[in-house]
Amino acid sequence: MTARVLFAGCRKLPEGSGDEHAVIRALTDAGVESRWAVWDDGDVDFTAADLVVLRATWDYSGRRDEFLAWCDSVPHLRNSAAVARWNTDKRYLLDLAEAGVPIVPTDLVEIGDTACWPDGEYVVKPVVGAGSLGARRFGPGDRDRAAEHLRDLHADGRAALVQPYQAHVDAHGETALVFIGGVYSHAFTKAAMLTGVHRDGTGVSGAEKLTAARPEPAHRRAAEEALDAAIGLLGVTRSDLLYARVDVVTGNDGAPLLLELELTEPYLGFAHADSAASSRFAAAVRAQLD
Ligand SMILES: Nc1ncnc2c1ncn2[C@@H]1O[C@H](COP(=O)(O)OP(=O)(O)O)[C@@H](O)[C@H]1O
Ligand SMILES: [Mg+2]
Repeated sequence: MTARVLFAGCRKLPEGSGDEHAVIRALTDAGVESRWAVWDDGDVDFTAADLVVLRATWDYSGRRDEFLAWCDSVPHLRNSAAVARWNTDKRYLLDLAEAGVPIVPTDLVEIGDTACWPDGEYVVKPVVGAGSLGARRFGPGDRDRAAEHLRDLHADGRAALVQPYQAHVDAHGETALVFIGGVYSHAFTKAAMLTGVHRDGTGVSGAEKLTAARPEPAHRRAAEEALDAAIGLLGVTRSDLLYARVDVVTGNDGAPLLLELELTEPYLGFAHADSAASSRFAAAVRAQLD
């Protein structure tokens, strides 16, 4: 019987960004039938699939509980529901810091708590969020606006993170290192998102500028170590992680710092990778069927 793989997207982008087209073709070539389905489409039987791959479920941030309940209901999900539960809340950064991973300095501000504002520029962002939504950059003179943004997030039921703005991002962006089946595959750079007049993740800064990258050895090492720490915390093996994206920035002292470790539904940048990357991903999907 042909294996059936479903790639999970969302209503707005039922086939994601188009980045996986070559993966689906490569799966067909390898004898694996795959297609897209919207994760919250009640007419789709996700339990019948041999594998469901989280790919473009980008609308869950306002309803994480519902999303995680759905993840729990899918018997063969990658990455797994347990990984999604840990990784959809940026508090995981603090777990990684405790495990010794150098992260962008991060202060958690729970609902009802007040912030300890850093000197210089800083970012206030929700603990559950993606696509820069709700992430805003403030300067030292912006305390009132920052406090107002924090109040708005809290009023919306969202705890927040406060981080010093890493100035290298303005000139060099962040480097996203992509791992397939736990093995490094390729990397791309994402230019600074919080620029422009309002420096506001909900405003003028929207467009993502991505380019293929060859990561510096220090960034490569930092990404490998962050992934090692994550699998240790999660009690999984590297090959259990069908995909991982490690977003690294250069910190103010020149050393790499982890900005995000994306294990739930990261864009993987096949459009910016060597042409074999999508075949590597298809092979890793196929390996998960065994
Ligand atoms: N501490 C920071 N220093 C510099 N830039 C930041 C910082 N935090 C966020 N950003 C910018 O905001 C964007 C979105 O923040 P990020 O933490 O990646 O959350 P998400 O991608 O989940 O929305 C990043 O891609 C980066 O451009
Ligand atoms: Mg990000």
